[in-house]
Amino acid sequence: MININNLKKYKLINDDCFSALKKIPDNSVDLILTDPPYNIAQYSTGNMSFDWRSDINNDLAEWDLNVLNPVDLLPEFKRILAPTGNIFIFCSYNLIGEYHKVFDPEFDTFQFMVWHKTNPVPNFRKSSFLNSCELIVSCWNKGHTWNFTTQKDMHNFIESGICMGKERIKGKDGKTLHPTQKPVSILKKIINIASNENDVVLDCFNGVGSTGEASLSLNRRYIGIEIDKVYFEATKQRLKNLF
Ligand SMILES: C[S@@+](CC[C@H](N)C(=O)[O-])C[C@H]1O[C@@H](n2cnc3c(N)ncnc32)[C@H](O)[C@@H]1O
Repeated sequence: MININNLKKYKLINDDCFSALKKIPDNSVDLILTDPPYNIAQYSTGNMSFDWRSDINNDLAEWDLNVLNPVDLLPEFKRILAPTGNIFIFCSYNLIGEYHKVFDPEFDTFQFMVWHKTNPVPNFRKSSFLNSCELIVSCWNKGHTWNFTTQKDMHNFIESGICMGKERIKGKDGKTLHPTQKPVSILKKIINIASNENDVVLDCFNGVGSTGEASLSLNRRYIGIEIDKVYFEATKQRLKNLF
């Protein structure tokens, strides 16, 4: 079992979260902010090649081919969440109904936010709408931490670009390491609203540690769980560089 009192800054675990979550004590996490697989790779038409520009990466990732069932997350999330805690989960359009079915009956409130991406992947063939919006489901019980300041803060709509340029973590080959790295600015907005300094933030689908960087930069403690060794090692380096 992880001793939360001994958690000074952060703990990273390279494991399947369905087993690692069992090592987190009851009622010990103040904010679960996570970005699980989306189950959308099955719909992908693959990468698109153009002779006048670089390929557009339309093939999500190997890890998205393993089906994630929101119902499987519920028991451990309920057990580890502090009574004053909040849950925010990035979610694709095809899973929102499932998250609602599973989480709404178990919490006092279920809402969702829309992240509008100002620079989504283009569709030069003009064959469909752009995927410029992503959903974030959120839920909590009465008495949860909430730090709204203005009415503007309270819109369930965030607008920002996707993670670009220097912020993107690169692999040894200099290429982008993670296809769905989240911008730290969005994560910081949520962490500020839904937790306090020194609180424990958990991302059990850590990727390359964006939630970790956002949490630590706001003086929260962080637990990150990532199954992929390469992403885990990149997170170790990324968080070490913060200190
Ligand atoms: C959508 S990505 C998260 C990206 C992250 N938000 C970031 O900014 O880097 C989902 C991550 O979950 C990881 N993952 C998938 N199944 C997992 C499992 N059972 N346990 C832990 N990690 C898992 C994948 O390897 C992938 O890195």
